[in-house]
Amino acid sequence: MGDSGVGKSSIAERIVNDVFSISTEATIGASYLSKILSKNNKIYNFNIWDTAGQEKYHCLVPLYYKNCDAAMIVYDITNRNSYLAAKKRIPELRKNSTVSAIILIGNKTDLIDRQVPKSEAQLFSSENNVLFLETSAKTAFHTKDILEKILEELPPPPAPIDSIPLIPTHTTYSCCNY
Ligand code: GTP
Ligand code: MG
Repeated sequence: MGDSGVGKSSIAERIVNDVFSISTEATIGASYLSKILSKNNKIYNFNIWDTAGQEKYHCLVPLYYKNCDAAMIVYDITNRNSYLAAKKRIPELRKNSTVSAIILIGNKTDLIDRQVPKSEAQLFSSENNVLFLETSAKTAFHTKDILEKILEELPPPPAPIDSIPLIPTHTTYSCCNY
């Protein structure tokens, strides 16, 4: 989630395909991407919904975050308004979804005209119990850490179905033939 132009699609593309494009199209509605990550001998499949930041699509965003396990809220470190808008999304998310992890992401660290000090966003995040990272989709700065951080925050996945014994190991058969 996040305002239009902050770099949500660019971050998603960097995470999934490790590429960056300077000329991207504004997302229409939402787009879906998936990423498989293995960690500690477990394989995780992330289903990622990249929502559209343009005002006209705002009413669609809750449809995508409603049943999510985690949310990334992105702002542009050179655009203070996008940071203020990102902060406002946190209570909205907590009220209307069951997400167990929220990460606030300050993107475009490769640019020099910064309007949001890192320390300010970091303090806000720790006070509001959300994860925090600054990234650059352009240079790939910290983009690999996003899913790793989210994984650390999510509750452990349920045991795989084949590790649950469905048939008791010591079965006593009682049948007319025995
Ligand atoms: P919507 O789909 O409209 O909500 O926008 P978005 O948040 O998906 O933004 P998008 O990824 O399309 O990026 C908008 C513009 O910012 C594009 O020109 C990107 O190339 C540029 N951009 C994205 N990330 C970065 C970054 O880390 N650094 C720089 N310098 N530019 C970036
Ligand atoms: Mg987009």
